[in-house]
Amino acid sequence: MDRDIKRLVNQLTIEEKASLCGGEDFWHLRSIERLRIPRVMVSDGPHGLRKQKDNPDHLGHNDSIKAVCFPAACATGSSFDKELLYKMGAALGEECQAEGVSALLGPAINIKRSPLCGRNFEYISEDPHLAGKMAASFIQGVQSRNVGTSLKHFAANNQEFFRTTVDVIADERTLREMYLAAFETAVKESAPWTVMCSYNKINGIHSSENQWLLAEVLRGEWGFKGVAVSDWYGTSDRIAGVKAGLDLEMPYSGGHNDKALAEAVKNGGLPEAILDAAVERILTLIFTYADNRVKAEFDYDAHHAISADIEKESAVLLKNEGGPDSGLLPLKKDKKIAFIGAFADKPRFQGGGSSHINAYKATSALQAAKARGIAVDYVEGFPADRDVKDPVALKAAVDAAKRADVAVVFAGLPDVIESEGYDREHMRLPECQNAVINAIAEVQPNIVVVLHNGSPVEMPWIDKVKSLLEMYLGGQAVGEAAISLLFGEANPSGKLAETFPLRIEDNPSYENFPGDGKTVHYNEGVFIGYRYYDYRKKDVLFPFGHGLSYTTFQYSNLKMEQSSIHFVNGSETITVSADVTNTGKVVGKEAVQLYIEDKTGAAIRPLRELKGFDKVSLAPGETKRVVFTLDKRSFAWYHTELGDWYCASGEYAVVIGASSRDLRLSAMVQVVSNEYLPFHVDWNTTVDALLKDPRTRQAAEEISARYFDKSKQEPGLESLGSGDKWSERAYFEAPLRHLYMTKDIPYEEVEKMIEAFNKLLC
Ligand code: BGC
Repeated sequence: MDRDIKRLVNQLTIEEKASLCGGEDFWHLRSIERLRIPRVMVSDGPHGLRKQKDNPDHLGHNDSIKAVCFPAACATGSSFDKELLYKMGAALGEECQAEGVSALLGPAINIKRSPLCGRNFEYISEDPHLAGKMAASFIQGVQSRNVGTSLKHFAANNQEFFRTTVDVIADERTLREMYLAAFETAVKESAPWTVMCSYNKINGIHSSENQWLLAEVLRGEWGFKGVAVSDWYGTSDRIAGVKAGLDLEMPYSGGHNDKALAEAVKNGGLPEAILDAAVERILTLIFTYADNRVKAEFDYDAHHAISADIEKESAVLLKNEGGPDSGLLPLKKDKKIAFIGAFADKPRFQGGGSSHINAYKATSALQAAKARGIAVDYVEGFPADRDVKDPVALKAAVDAAKRADVAVVFAGLPDVIESEGYDREHMRLPECQNAVINAIAEVQPNIVVVLHNGSPVEMPWIDKVKSLLEMYLGGQAVGEAAISLLFGEANPSGKLAETFPLRIEDNPSYENFPGDGKTVHYNEGVFIGYRYYDYRKKDVLFPFGHGLSYTTFQYSNLKMEQSSIHFVNGSETITVSADVTNTGKVVGKEAVQLYIEDKTGAAIRPLRELKGFDKVSLAPGETKRVVFTLDKRSFAWYHTELGDWYCASGEYAVVIGASSRDLRLSAMVQVVSNEYLPFHVDWNTTVDALLKDPRTRQAAEEISARYFDKSKQEPGLESLGSGDKWSERAYFEAPLRHLYMTKDIPYEEVEKMIEAFNKLLC
């Protein structure tokens, strides 16, 4: 149906317009009967539908309708599979249609700055390329069913501690490269219907009223056309917010702000055109949904099965000593198997807070094993919801382990340790769990650990266990997925979307997480996750991108379309491809990763950064070619002075690997860029700087040839023994003022030289 939204806006009174910019209640946008503007609903998100009928809340305490709980983003991020995320999004879109929900409040894509952030389980990765691409697919999936999404929390919401007021202090390069880039990709590639602001401030200004963030970057640079919505109760200065481009305040906050908006328009404090634009965007959302409602139904059990499939593709096999041929995994059904740990019976499959789903059912590993006729000896060993040591339970666990051929320990983090609303205090598993693993290791060499957690944990027992399967928070079908993977019905193919450090003290944000409650300084800059660990050559427990399989893969035949790329208008691309072969005995999937290493030395940058990934399914012996397209952004970094992405001319390595530390193939590419950096010459400009810029190089060479002799030692330096080297440095580092100070060139002549250089730069 063609709707004339502008005409509708013209029919509204100022008060009505202002009221449309706020919620009608906790979950509904404002309706206006007189103009047949319907009442539409939004719901959390992101990995299931938390539609509340009564007693609404944003803490996840009160009940919501029964729904399907899909794996959380900590798990799905590890799938490295864009199509899978599309599929999950489409399933959720169908559920929203069936339940009359116009927009799902997700995906959440804040970068995992520290493993301690209580809400990391809801976020995709420590890497913005991965987070952005996966989020874009998820959004496309949901929106393919004519249901909106809310890309959240924009931006720099990387901790829970004082999340509503904390001021994130970060430089622009850090923000652009690490904390905005994933949002940029998702906005540009999938046009989410809404973007949800974060609660926090960025460099002194709340996101919900941040002109730079909302007007300049989101709408201006990235071309976002949808609705910018506040996080729940996340507005501070509402008028400043509307001016900056925050259209919708959620939920209903007592009517105060609606009144203030209407008054501001009347007294000239807010141009009516700005309010109109916000209302237009809100009405577009309402009618895009309402005019295109489809009668939808979905089959809960079919979605449960999708949830299981997604988890099978997402879980990460972190360790399997002996490899596919002699590893403990996959388990043989005829062995005597003990399941130890309450998570086998009561798996933790989702996190706490606003994303908490009222799962219509949940399958435990014990149930799934029973359904397959697999006999296991189960003992609780430790509880799933708290940290209490129980000597009797511990002894029972040791006895069960002794009786068995293999002990499978189902461990994880209890809800109370990890949730929205607060951060973790440490990176450890509950002591009672570590104690059981250590104790059974005394009597049983064959131990498999299966983890249920939303973010990394320290593993003091890692050398005592042979296999380790990271399920993350795997959704309501996690037990089924675990059994399928443990017994080899499915082959693990997830890869870590975050580094597992050895200890929390190794994390680059350690000194500055979570700050003092008022401010938090992102002093580590762009060196987050593997960008830091790889640069500093730090040992880690498991690196970014790591994940094993029951088969093996060989990489070969790296081909680059050409050996150099010239960026003239920035739209040029280069294609890189490589073969991947399944060299093992079973079908498997490999997530191939492409990293770029900047060898130009033009800026301090991480050693390597992920710029491409693809997941391929291969039968034994089969080879497939994976193809990546790289563009200017693949090589670029954010140059604050230029106010844009910049890539220096020079050499870059294109590296393809199975993790950030398992690099298999590489080739060099020469980048030629015709972009110039801002450059103003003055008395302190050095010879080095003049020689480096192509515009001043020739003139600088002529001047140097005339006035400097870099091969000649500066008088007096011989005695120091460092004369030659120092002379050479002195030549490069000489500021132009030295020309009149040390070379007897008249001051006025040098002044003219500077003028001439600046003319060349115009
Ligand atoms: C969360 C959002 C959520 C909203 C509504 C807030 O507390 O930060 O992610 O969508 O509540 O429940």
